[in-house]
Amino acid sequence: MRLSGKIAIITGSASGIGKATAIRFAHEGASVAVTDLNTAGGQSTVDEIKATGGSAFFIEADVSNEASVVSMTEAVIDAQGRVDILVNNAAICEGMDVLDIASETWDRNLSVVLRSVYLCSRAVLPHMITRKQGSIVNIASVNGITAVGNAAYSAAKAGVINLTQNMACSYGEYGIRVNAIAPGTIRTEIWAEREKSNPNVFDDIADWYPLKRVGKPDEIASTALFLASDEASFATGALFVIDGGLTAGMRKWTDVAMASE
Ligand SMILES: NC(=O)c1ccc[n+]([C@@H]2O[C@H](COP(=O)([O-])OP(=O)(O)OC[C@H]3O[C@@H](n4cnc5c(N)ncnc54)[C@H](O)[C@@H]3O)[C@@H](O)[C@H]2O)c1
Repeated sequence: MRLSGKIAIITGSASGIGKATAIRFAHEGASVAVTDLNTAGGQSTVDEIKATGGSAFFIEADVSNEASVVSMTEAVIDAQGRVDILVNNAAICEGMDVLDIASETWDRNLSVVLRSVYLCSRAVLPHMITRKQGSIVNIASVNGITAVGNAAYSAAKAGVINLTQNMACSYGEYGIRVNAIAPGTIRTEIWAEREKSNPNVFDDIADWYPLKRVGKPDEIASTALFLASDEASFATGALFVIDGGLTAGMRKWTDVAMASE
């Protein structure tokens, strides 16, 4: 087992990528603190893990709220004695272009997507520094590296990538690794509103992907598992783009541009 005896906090693990990561980590021997605003969903992740013999417990927390993050972290440390792994995964995605985004929406997205990574990392880092070990995995997005809409969310994800690099450089000497993952489209609840207005949204998007499909939560969980484990012992400050080839190039553009040849 790749995470035997490790204590992992996974934010936003009531659903989607966070849930798949929690299940995967527990399967590999970690004791998982499932944290989310969604109590019913979080509890169901815990129940699923326990039903297969894994170890998990739920703590309700709002990652954008400082007091909530501090009390969630202290609850894990009181109960388990330490934190080995933090996966900063919770997010929302609201608003499209700058002219359409109300300032409250901008602030909320920056707070849940970016400030949360600062708050949760700041809460666990002192404990990791004392023990001279730890792994932080930040779930960023292809939105953080190229323009694909959702301006507030995307700017926040770009911030997550830079924060990953800064924390990797600042705390590497204490044996702490900090990495980020940039997923492409993954079929999860975060797409629920868009799927409501276009039930074929995933099929329509798939055509832009070299692999001709969108991804599954477990395909991000497997990279998070690698980064959290000792197998990634020399990886820090890195961005792992797991996007079915979306940002590798523009084949559809190439087909149009070269059509005259
Ligand atoms: N699904 C995609 O296409 C995609 C692509 C790139 C990146 N991502 C990123 O993957 C991560 C997981 O997203 P997902 O697709 O699984 O979405 P999801 O909506 O299924 O899961 C997000 C979880 O975060 C929780 N959450 C939201 N606000 C919170 C808060 N303030 N405090 C605590 N929990 C909160 C939600 O309750 C939910 O359980 C996010 O960081 C997202 O930006 C997703």
